[in-house]
Amino acid sequence: MRQILLTGITGQLGQELQRTLLPLGNVTATERGGIDLAQPMRIRQAIREIKPDLIVNSAAYTAVDKAETETELAQSINAVAPLIMAEEAQRLRASLVHISTDYIFDGLKNTPYTEEDTPYPLSVYGESKLAGEEGIRQVCDRHTILRTAWVYGAFGKSNFVKTMLRLGAERDEIRVVADQVGTPTWARDIAKAIAQLSQLNLEKTQEPPPGKTYHFTNSGIASWYDFAIAIFEEARKLGYKLKVQRVVPITTSEYPTLAQRPAYSVLSHQKISAVLGSYPPHWRQGIQQTLLELYNFSDESNYS
Ligand SMILES: NC(=O)c1ccc[n+]([C@@H]2O[C@H](COP(=O)([O-])OP(=O)(O)OC[C@H]3O[C@@H](n4cnc5c(N)ncnc54)[C@H](OP(=O)(O)O)[C@@H]3O)[C@@H](O)[C@H]2O)c1
Repeated sequence: MRQILLTGITGQLGQELQRTLLPLGNVTATERGGIDLAQPMRIRQAIREIKPDLIVNSAAYTAVDKAETETELAQSINAVAPLIMAEEAQRLRASLVHISTDYIFDGLKNTPYTEEDTPYPLSVYGESKLAGEEGIRQVCDRHTILRTAWVYGAFGKSNFVKTMLRLGAERDEIRVVADQVGTPTWARDIAKAIAQLSQLNLEKTQEPPPGKTYHFTNSGIASWYDFAIAIFEEARKLGYKLKVQRVVPITTSEYPTLAQRPAYSVLSHQKISAVLGSYPPHWRQGIQQTLLELYNFSDESNYS
């Protein structure tokens, strides 16, 4: 039976991957306590013990603003750790699937970014993720790098949906940035795409397939403001009790953050759609299911 090593299982994507990777083999699902990605020797040791056929790295340093001041830690988890995984995967002739981000782009385009566009990160987080990609490409033949964006889902510690629900229950008015445009993407749809890609990767056992970079997000385009409106519309339909009466569109300059974000980070999914045989679902589709799951997980008295 194929051995699969999955990192980051306490994260929003990692939780979903635990389920979608199950049909592919024996999944060793790890969290920080098992393999701390800030400890290179521990990563090597674990991979040498498990001898995986496939490594799926969904763990990352994802605190975009905090990374501006925790540069070394972000670099260590997002750049050094993936490089070590890539070296060990190459040693074992194993496959490595790694997740990257739209924040490697500067957002100056106004048409969807393709895999061939030149990255130019605006933040420490983006730089560290780009360095992770570059290290993997240099040392591991059987790699797949999947760039995604604006991830949300029912699992993990925080995301935009959870923040909007919290603020929406507390405040009459919420101000949301309307001049950053991207594509909200449901973690479950990413996890399904990764399982499909991993299956294809594992099937190519004779010759090392050339490494590939793909963009995967849900379909469509939205601003954070559009995303917030959709969350509240769907939440009200489901019976969430919300205090919010007004969602006010604001500019990025009215909501300063430590890290600079791309104004436009829509990713083209032409390439991955050709491989998977279908276009990703529209971004609004996952919201209702996520809200239902959050509703069911929660102490219902919070909402109704
Ligand atoms: N979130 C987004 O909007 C977004 C957008 C584009 C791309 N991505 C990429 O998508 C992937 C998945 O993101 P996500 O949203 O699922 O992230 P997430 O919910 O923040 O989860 C990150 C995971 O990484 C783990 N982790 C962090 N530091 C670690 C360490 N030192 N050792 C071991 N594990 C560690 C976390 O463990 P703890 O629970 O212990 O902290 C958690 O399981 C990442 O590669 C991210 O860069 C995310």
